[in-house]
Amino acid sequence: MAPTTLAMALAMAALVPLTLADDLLATYAQYLQMGAAVSQLDVVAQQGYAPYRVDCPANLTWVRPATGLADGESKFLQQRTPNVEAAVAKIVADAGISKPQRTPVIGIAMSGGGYRAMITTMGQVQGLQSSGWMDAVSYISGLSGGSWAATTYVANGGRNASDLNENVWDLGTDLISGPAGGKDAFYTRLAELVKAKADLGFPVQITDIWGLSIANHVLPLDFRTDTSPNFTISKLAANVPAFANGNLPMPIIVAAEIPHTTAAAAKTAPLYEFTPFEFGTWDSSNVTNGGYFTPVEFLGSNHTNGTCYNGFDQLSFITGVSATLFNNLGSLTSALFDPTSFPFLNVTTQNVATVPNPFQGYTGSENPDPADTELTLVDAGETDQNLPLLPLIVPERKVDAILALDASADTKNNWPDGTSLYTTYNATSGTDFKMPMVPSPNGFINGGFNTRPTFFGCNDTDTPLIIYLPNYPYSAWTNISSLTLTQSTNVTATQIVSAESSLTLNGTAGWPTCLACALTDRANGYTAANRSSVCAECFSVFCWNGEDNSTQPDAYTPTIGTPSFVSSLKLNVPSGVSAKPEKSLAGALTVPSVFALATAAVAWLAI
Ligand SMILES: *[C@@H]1O[C@H](CO)[C@@H](O)[C@H](O)[C@H]1NC(C)=O
Ligand SMILES: *[C@@H]1O[C@H](CO)[C@@H](O)[C@H](O)[C@H]1NC(C)=O
Ligand SMILES: *[C@@H]1O[C@H](CO)[C@@H](O)[C@H](O)[C@H]1NC(C)=O
Ligand SMILES: *[C@@H]1O[C@H](CO)[C@@H](O)[C@H](O)[C@H]1NC(C)=O
Ligand SMILES: *[C@@H]1O[C@H](CO)[C@@H](O)[C@H](O)[C@H]1NC(C)=O
Ligand SMILES: *[C@@H]1O[C@H](CO)[C@@H](O)[C@H](O)[C@H]1NC(C)=O
Ligand SMILES: *[C@@H]1O[C@H](CO)[C@@H](O)[C@H](O)[C@H]1NC(C)=O
Ligand SMILES: *[C@@H]1O[C@H](CO)[C@@H](O)[C@H](O)[C@H]1NC(C)=O
Ligand SMILES: *[C@@H]1O[C@H](CO)[C@@H](O)[C@H](O)[C@H]1NC(C)=O
Ligand SMILES: *[C@@H]1O[C@H](CO)[C@@H](O)[C@H](O)[C@H]1NC(C)=O
Ligand SMILES: *[C@@H]1O[C@H](CO)[C@@H](O)[C@H](O)[C@H]1NC(C)=O
Ligand SMILES: *[C@@H]1O[C@H](CO)[C@@H](O)[C@H](O)[C@H]1NC(C)=O
Repeated sequence: MAPTTLAMALAMAALVPLTLADDLLATYAQYLQMGAAVSQLDVVAQQGYAPYRVDCPANLTWVRPATGLADGESKFLQQRTPNVEAAVAKIVADAGISKPQRTPVIGIAMSGGGYRAMITTMGQVQGLQSSGWMDAVSYISGLSGGSWAATTYVANGGRNASDLNENVWDLGTDLISGPAGGKDAFYTRLAELVKAKADLGFPVQITDIWGLSIANHVLPLDFRTDTSPNFTISKLAANVPAFANGNLPMPIIVAAEIPHTTAAAAKTAPLYEFTPFEFGTWDSSNVTNGGYFTPVEFLGSNHTNGTCYNGFDQLSFITGVSATLFNNLGSLTSALFDPTSFPFLNVTTQNVATVPNPFQGYTGSENPDPADTELTLVDAGETDQNLPLLPLIVPERKVDAILALDASADTKNNWPDGTSLYTTYNATSGTDFKMPMVPSPNGFINGGFNTRPTFFGCNDTDTPLIIYLPNYPYSAWTNISSLTLTQSTNVTATQIVSAESSLTLNGTAGWPTCLACALTDRANGYTAANRSSVCAECFSVFCWNGEDNSTQPDAYTPTIGTPSFVSSLKLNVPSGVSAKPEKSLAGALTVPSVFALATAAVAWLAI
């Protein structure tokens, strides 16, 4: 073996996880002995995406009932809470309101909607970063495009949208076919990575291809298909010190479970969540009776027969699972994913995400078929609950306030109309979930609640307060189709600025104070009767007053600019932390081109 090759082999040895499968170690030993060609090293490197064998831990609790938080989550909160407390103390001091009696638990729900949702959500997050609020958030819950936002945010250590757009995201190359002119090489690489997983006996689907494609555009450069595509959600703390130190919120990525035979998910389909600690579900009908969780690090294992794996829980795969809507797209799916490139996939039957069922044999009410060896998961937007609220309104998490960032495409022109909130409200009524009442979608449009921030739950005391922040075109068209597969950095930059304005209300005096009132209301123990006069003034302006004008409205067609509700605001409260002034806008404000095949995918449009 030539010295350089030996050096390479030793360097490689340091990179190989200690717990590789026996057969892989054998391959590797063989390589060392025989001085095999470098290409055999690729076999090892490819294990970066495919799961790898580990010993089954003797003392692991493989399935726990959903009666409290995961140990890992509790420890995370212990780390996070002092940081939240410090951030809140600073913001409320700047806003001139009192420090809450206890530290609030704040969550963000990030809706689905492909790149539209990812970009506008991250633009709104940028507004929360510039005002300090991101340091006070404990959970971010992401669905489909919102899961891409949550993932790109935490995996990149909390970098802001403008920075990501310029230095990390790769939205200029096609989301599915990869680099211009490089499709063949890209697809060969994808097929190689996914086949390595299939060769271990795991079910693989379009979701694996799709997830790797998404990751290639939004994950850190070190984890792309041409580097090391092995960023698992259970290794988030290992890869991102800011998360380990409690300086970032905990991501929760969701997907809906469907029975094998159905084409689309029901509105009340069970919701499964992936966190850095666990995979599982809170029972959607009765939280105290039926949900279950398993350690996410060992997903794909079968401990009953002693076959354990790590590495199934790739962030790429999880963002793909969360955005698996091919069961709704029909023949469009094979147009998007040319079947000849992936001969080991049948796009007709492998159009859902299947995960080895860690809950096989478990008889909780949430398990439609305890005999199943596989769970079938799809994009939870198919339930019409396109804002992932359930993980934040589950009583166990004791969330005080939810920022609901809604970029759903409910209307014909891809604007939100509150359908997601309403569907969750309706679906959880009579259950243990803590969801405040909201108006119907018509009521949202007639009341203008889909144009500006509205607070829901103001008269409640045992639900979180929901701060609804809809996608609205302040300074750019932010209603691109969910099927947008490519967009220039410049256009994305204008959308980020516009979305940031929809959060900061473009610097409207008093709004930062009102936002602070909303986010600390529960932690102050306020009720409608005892709110401070400043916060009472804010709530009189921003709370939903309970009216639901359900008359069919005219078509909803906002124009670019500050919505009239906001431009006519005169808040008689301290101005609060000053938001950054709007940056000058590069590029013309033109209506975005939409993907021509959109009409073939009505279901997708709602997501
Ligand atoms: C990913 O693979 C690289 C080697 O390619 C290794 O150094 C690293 O530890 C792996 N990361 C994770 C999170 O497993
Ligand atoms: C498993 O846990 C029990 C109780 O904590 C302990 O007595 C036992 O030694 C542990 N076994 C192993 C293999 O760690
Ligand atoms: C985004 O982050 C970059 C790098 O930290 C910083 O220079 C920039 O000012 C931030 N932009 C906004 C709008 O906050
Ligand atoms: C254990 O179960 C897995 C499926 O969960 C299967 O692929 C594997 O072949 C089984 N191994 C043994 C030794 O039975
Ligand atoms: C995919 O599966 C379906 C249903 O089993 C079958 O009808 C179809 O022929 C398969 N397609 C391919 C390309 O194998
Ligand atoms: C786990 O392995 C056992 C024994 O081989 C098998 O009966 C069972 O179906 C497997 N479970 C899953 C989820 O594949
Ligand atoms: C509300 O939920 C009920 C079942 O509880 C269902 O029959 C009804 O269709 C739902 N309404 C809407 C608008 O989703
Ligand atoms: C949930 O299940 C528990 C235990 O069976 C029961 O006591 C409780 O009433 C149920 N709650 C609801 C909302 O059905
Ligand atoms: C993008 O914006 C920069 C700065 O405004 C400009 O120099 C460049 O020409 C623009 N590129 C495109 C493709 O519009
Ligand atoms: C909350 O209470 C106020 C004062 O009683 C009332 O005017 C308002 O309609 C209530 N809001 C809701 C959503 O019921
Ligand atoms: C209710 O909505 C309809 C349709 O937008 C509108 O014409 C009507 O004025 C509204 N009614 C009230 C009382 O606001
Ligand atoms: C936002 O505020 C800036 C500075 O006050 C102003 O120039 C700009 O027109 C405003 N943008 C919108 C969309 O109103």
